[in-house]
Amino acid sequence: MAADFSERYFELLKRCLTGSLHGEAFRSISPAREGWRGQLAGLAARGMQGLLRPFGLEVVRRVAYDAQRRSEGRDWPAHAETMIGLKRLNQLQNCIEEVIKENIPGDLIECGVWRGGAGIFMRAMLELDPSRQRKVWLADSFQGLPPPNARQYPADKGDVHHRYTQLAVSLDEVQANFERYGWLDDRVAFLPGWFRDTLPNAPMERLAVLRADGDMYESTMDILRHLYPKLSINGFCIIDDYGAIPACRQATDDYRREHGIQDPIHAIDWTGVYWRRST
Ligand SMILES: C[S@@+](CC[C@H](N)C(=O)[O-])C[C@H]1O[C@@H](n2cnc3c(N)ncnc32)[C@H](O)[C@@H]1O
Repeated sequence: MAADFSERYFELLKRCLTGSLHGEAFRSISPAREGWRGQLAGLAARGMQGLLRPFGLEVVRRVAYDAQRRSEGRDWPAHAETMIGLKRLNQLQNCIEEVIKENIPGDLIECGVWRGGAGIFMRAMLELDPSRQRKVWLADSFQGLPPPNARQYPADKGDVHHRYTQLAVSLDEVQANFERYGWLDDRVAFLPGWFRDTLPNAPMERLAVLRADGDMYESTMDILRHLYPKLSINGFCIIDDYGAIPACRQATDDYRREHGIQDPIHAIDWTGVYWRRST
């Protein structure tokens, strides 16, 4: 691919995957997210959803599309394949370019895949890697988040993410998304199941990019505990929810403290951060 053509392809891909190309005029109604009016509307909508579901219909909320919020990954897209926004995709692009340029050994992994958008972007970017040896791993329950285990992870007490049905995207749906974009091939590998079960024996040897997007303390800790030891020196560790979710931040800080990690943390946007592993 000529350089300017591939650049334009990746720009277009980011805009498609974030839903920024056409914008979105509505979004699903999410329980427990918005004040009492939202909750009331959510309750009514859920009742209607039940009635409409057998007919393949759904109630949605009309919204004014906000390009700025979407670019910063502050809303949950109704249809787009990723919620991480353009800034975090740009940073992911920079990481992968660096990994290829500096020949940092290892595969790439996205832990917390949702509809697969960031993973699709990672796979597309691997086309720039002349070695053609790396893979993209995609770890997810493909059924949403686990209920909090507050006894073992007090920081997750009261966490409601497991109630958000829109965070549960099946493996079939994710694979269909990869297929639609033309990137479902033998350089993507799926690890379906809870992180605590799949990550301890995840079959990759080394990682060059570790992207953690599991929201909760437990999920973030499981990712770091089982995968950080595989991250190559100079590899990138990206924590998507560090700014947005205190429990995620606490897990990250705890892990770094327990392992004496002092590599500086760089902010990507209002929530995403990364650091490069030096030792
Ligand atoms: C916020 S979404 C990820 C967003 C995604 N990275 C994107 O590009 O839009 C969080 C995902 O993490 C998954 N998840 C969270 N905790 C998990 C766990 N402990 N085990 C398996 N999957 C988990 C959920 O199923 C969900 O798909």
